[in-house]
Order: sequence, then C-alpha cells, then structure tokens
Amino acid sequence: MSFLKSNIFSKRDKKNGGPSIEGPPRHIAIILDGNGRWAKKRGLPRTAGHAAGAETFRRIATYCKDIGVEYLTVYAFSTENWKRPEEEISAIMRLLNKYLVEACETMEKDKIRLKVLGDASILPSELRELISKTAAISKKYDGFQANVCINYGGRDEIVRAAIKYAKDFADGRAKDLTEEKFGSYLYSAGIPDPDIVIRPGGEIRLSNFLIWEAAYSELIFTDVLWPDFTSKDIDKAIAEYKSRDRRYGGIKV
Ligand code: FPP
Repeated sequence: MSFLKSNIFSKRDKKNGGPSIEGPPRHIAIILDGNGRWAKKRGLPRTAGHAAGAETFRRIATYCKDIGVEYLTVYAFSTENWKRPEEEISAIMRLLNKYLVEACETMEKDKIRLKVLGDASILPSELRELISKTAAISKKYDGFQANVCINYGGRDEIVRAAIKYAKDFADGRAKDLTEEKFGSYLYSAGIPDPDIVIRPGGEIRLSNFLIWEAAYSELIFTDVLWPDFTSKDIDKAIAEYKSRDRRYGGIKV
C-alpha cells in the first residue's frame, strides 16, 4: 500500500466555493503506529521503537511548524493502551515525561503551545504536573500548537462531553444542543477539525482517534513505520490532500 494518488496540487476546493486548500493545511493529525515493528525488525526491544518514535515526533512537529501548519495532533497513548505490559507502559510514560520537560523550554523559546488531550486524572503525578505547566505556558502564546493525546479515546471523549453537557443542562447553564455547542465540551474545544489524519504503520482504521473531529478529514494511510516517517512523508500527505475534492457533502457547480 502507498499514498493513493500522485503529487497533484489542485485548487478544486476554491472553485467549488469550499475552503481554499492553497498553502499548508491548518491542522494535521497523526496516529503514531509501527514503533514496535520498527524495533523488532532491528532486533531491539519495543521500547527502543517508542524512543525512536518520540524523536520522530520532535522532528515532524518542527517541520510542520516551519511550513506553516498551525496545529499538529498526535495519538501517543490511547485509553486501550493500558492493556500493554507494565514495562512498556512505564517506558512510554517516561518518554512522555522527558518530552514534556524539554517542551516547556522550547515553548518559551519559540512561543508555541502544547496541549494534552485526554483524561489526565489517572496519569502519574509528575506527568500531571507537567501537563498543567505546559497548559499554563500555552496560555501566554498563540503560535503553533502541538496536541498530544494521552489516555485518549474518541468514544470516551464523546461520553465525557455528553455527561458535562447534561450536567450544565440540568443546572440551567446550557440550553439547546448544536454540533458547535457539543464541540465546546470536547477535549478539542477551540481547535479546528483536522484537515488530514495520517496513519503510518499499514493499518487502515482510525482506532478511536478523533472520531468526532475527523468527520470530514482526509484520511491518508501509509506503510511507512512511524519511526521512519520523514518530512518527505508529510509533503506527500499534503500533496495527496491537495489533490482531493473536498465537497463537505455538497456537489460540484
Ligand atoms: C504505537 O506503535 C505507538 C504507541 C502506542 C506509543 C507512541 C508513543 C510514543 C512515540 C512515545 C512518546 C510520544 C511523544 C509524542 C513524545 P505500536 O507500539 O502499536 O507499534 P506496532 O503496531 O508496530 O506494535
């Protein structure tokens, strides 16, 4: 399997009266997949694959920022990933911790934002403190925003939003429900929907990632394993996205 279409830049969206797709997409979302297989191919423990995957995230986030993408959202740890061996979970938590410590410095230097999406309440306390710290730093800036999904599940996000809305409704703080209103109860409140969702690693499914937000996203699947993913793969994905005909349920005029 490979990217499905060739590198054709098209302005069809603009002609259709839909949003322009000139320039970079505003929001790219990525399911980080293939770390374990990358490590296995090299005779390394799975945790080495996650360490390589964290480095890839760092490179790709910098690249996205440099080309003018406004938001990059990655699926780092799902609500289902707790089923993995304890040793692997601890290694991922350590990597996330290390990344957030370093991110605090980078955020101040580059005036960028980092948000963690997901239920932080059951995460290790040090990680929770770092999440609060990055949230506080983010409030000061309005540049590029990286969103890291940790203990995140799309269905869980929707159920939590429904519960919060129901409470607000019962307390008289919320009235009629619209799609837009419901969106304001999600972890992703205030973040535009992803234009593209990329899944490296060869699987062709969303695996409970941004299932509300990705309703109209262009989905791009590739066999490249996440640690091998490069800026060229981002370029290919953007070219593929630009070649598609985004009609949002409308028709061509
Ligand atoms: C999926 O690959 C990857 C994960 C569940 C973990 C991703 C986490 C990181 C890269 C750690 C740090 C992240 C950031 C953002 C700093 P897999 O293990 O399912 O791979 P496989 O399908 O080949 O087994």
